[in-house]
Amino acid sequence: QVADSLYIINQFAQQYFAEKLFNSEEGEDIAMSYLKERGFREEVIRKFQIGYCLQDRDAFAKAAIAAQYNPEYLQKSGLIVVRDERPYDNYRGRIIFPIHNQSGKVLGFGARVIGKVDRAPKYINTPENEIYHKSKILYGSYFARQSIDKNDECLLVEGYTDVVSLHQAGIENVVASGGTSLTPDQLRLVKKYTKNLTIIYDGDAAGVKAALRGLDLAIEEGLNVKLVLIPDKEDPDSYVNKIGASAFQDFIKANKKDFILFQVEILLKDAGDDTNKKAALVNQIAETIAKLNKTEDFTKQQDYIRRCADLLRIEEVGLNNLVNKFIR
Ligand code: CTP
Ligand code: MN
Ligand code: MN
Ligand code: MN
Ligand code: MN
Repeated sequence: QVADSLYIINQFAQQYFAEKLFNSEEGEDIAMSYLKERGFREEVIRKFQIGYCLQDRDAFAKAAIAAQYNPEYLQKSGLIVVRDERPYDNYRGRIIFPIHNQSGKVLGFGARVIGKVDRAPKYINTPENEIYHKSKILYGSYFARQSIDKNDECLLVEGYTDVVSLHQAGIENVVASGGTSLTPDQLRLVKKYTKNLTIIYDGDAAGVKAALRGLDLAIEEGLNVKLVLIPDKEDPDSYVNKIGASAFQDFIKANKKDFILFQVEILLKDAGDDTNKKAALVNQIAETIAKLNKTEDFTKQQDYIRRCADLLRIEEVGLNNLVNKFIR
């Protein structure tokens, strides 16, 4: 009941915001021009049903109340906030990214400030409610589904704009975790579509750290995980805009790394000549390899032991024994 009402409100809001983006002077001057400047074309803006919330204090609230939507549910949806008994629009002056479920219904929104982020936060997202559960949502899954099936692979990026830009570049099997904290529920969603996951996180320290954590979780879910690291200070959106669609596709192909080899590389670099650090690293790798056992993939495990022992310059038997210690 509540859920149905929220879906209906979100659909109304999505259409309202899209209308403002395309058919208002403010939408055109402020929002559309910003999106175009970033390289988004009209076709992809329409496909993702992107919109704009006017700067006015309560233009949306007034429209929604005039259209008889229940004020209590409007608050629950996060679209309006009531302060001093007066409703105001939560996303005023922001670009609106609708977030769809797998059948295309709008669960909620991500709303971005326009231009440089001088006032925090950059994005405001729908609060948890009966239909929006952040930890169980993959942005873009509705638009990615077919391509994931076709490629038997799912690409995972951090943000809304990464998904939209990759679609524009012809890469459609892509979803976003909405930030860097990937959850087990999100991975289980991926697993319903495909076993092959490629994580493409931002090329900053936070992105690398999150990728390492994400891949541990993904292994526990039994996914085959690969990783691509985007160059420093870039993300998939900025990078594809910088080098172009076909160069970006080549880049992904050439830089897709098996997760364990990625982990070994990062940790080796980090350890340097420090023997204590190196011992800890060997332990950590053994622990990761041991997790493969849960997914009952013995051949794969043996293969990793061989390749990692090689990279780490240690005896295969030694690593094998260590791995076995982690298996109970
Ligand atoms: N995010 C969020 N709230 C924030 C910052 C980030 O929910 N205050 C989520 C959004 O889903 C965002 C993703 O984390 O898309 C990745 O964040 P970030 O890399 O900072 O933003 P971008 O997606 O790169 O957005 P843009 O290119 O517009 O700056
Ligand atoms: Mn629910
Ligand atoms: Mn980031
Ligand atoms: Mn980013
Ligand atoms: Mn970005």
